[in-house]
Amino acid sequence: MDLNQYIPSRITIFFRRMFFYLLGEKFYKKLNYDWHQYQNRFDIINKIIKIKSYKKYLEIGCQSDVNFSRIQIDQRIGVDPYDGGTHRMTSDDFFKENKERFDIIFIDGLHEYEQVLRDIKNSVKFLNDNGIIIVHDCLPSKIWHQTIPQTHSSWNGDVWKAIVECRTLENLDTYTCIADHGLGIILNRNNRNRLKLEIKNFKELKFKDYYENHKEFMNTISETDLFNLIENKI
Ligand SMILES: C[S@@+](CC[C@H](N)C(=O)[O-])C[C@H]1O[C@@H](n2cnc3c(N)ncnc32)[C@H](O)[C@@H]1O
Repeated sequence: MDLNQYIPSRITIFFRRMFFYLLGEKFYKKLNYDWHQYQNRFDIINKIIKIKSYKKYLEIGCQSDVNFSRIQIDQRIGVDPYDGGTHRMTSDDFFKENKERFDIIFIDGLHEYEQVLRDIKNSVKFLNDNGIIIVHDCLPSKIWHQTIPQTHSSWNGDVWKAIVECRTLENLDTYTCIADHGLGIILNRNNRNRLKLEIKNFKELKFKDYYENHKEFMNTISETDLFNLIENKI
């Protein structure tokens, strides 16, 4: 399959951006995250694997194996319909066939709310007790980083909306570590800090809502807090 089906051309991005300027949400304030100041996803994932002595890793969306090839663990499965990993298929097809369970699942496939939520719900079904789900790209800095469809070369999509929805659920404990574009951290246990947000359709949340409430909506934590959480110190 052709990876270009997934990555739009510059010209496509340009026309989409113009369209969005005219008809999309108009809110241009930015969050000031300088991601170079923080640890990257593979160092954090490898540290968690070491601390918890995890054995089985699943990555959804592997593109060129930049992250996948660096993960140090006994068993790795990577799923991507176009590039990288070990299984050439979509995450939906993988979860339909899969019979294995994993200690740690990294979700970084299609960055659209509905797909991410489905990837999270499917991952919960195949997570070992005491396992962890990590979701990439949860903290977009600008409106352009989170539009659907993609209108910027650096694209997080609206993954953040899936995290906000998980924050409202009783049975998942959800955080967002401030590192590498935002790492959603999901534990399969009772929610310790449930977000009380009475809305029916999380897809309709606006970037302005996120900008004004992101600490509470996303339950942001530092890298230090993340490792304290992993070691059951908080
Ligand atoms: C941002 S890249 C992944 C980057 C990689 N995880 C890393 O950390 O370097 C997203 C990948 O998701 C893949 N993808 C797109 N739709 C998908 C789907 N439905 N299921 C699984 N992967 C998908 C794309 O082919 C692309 O390679």
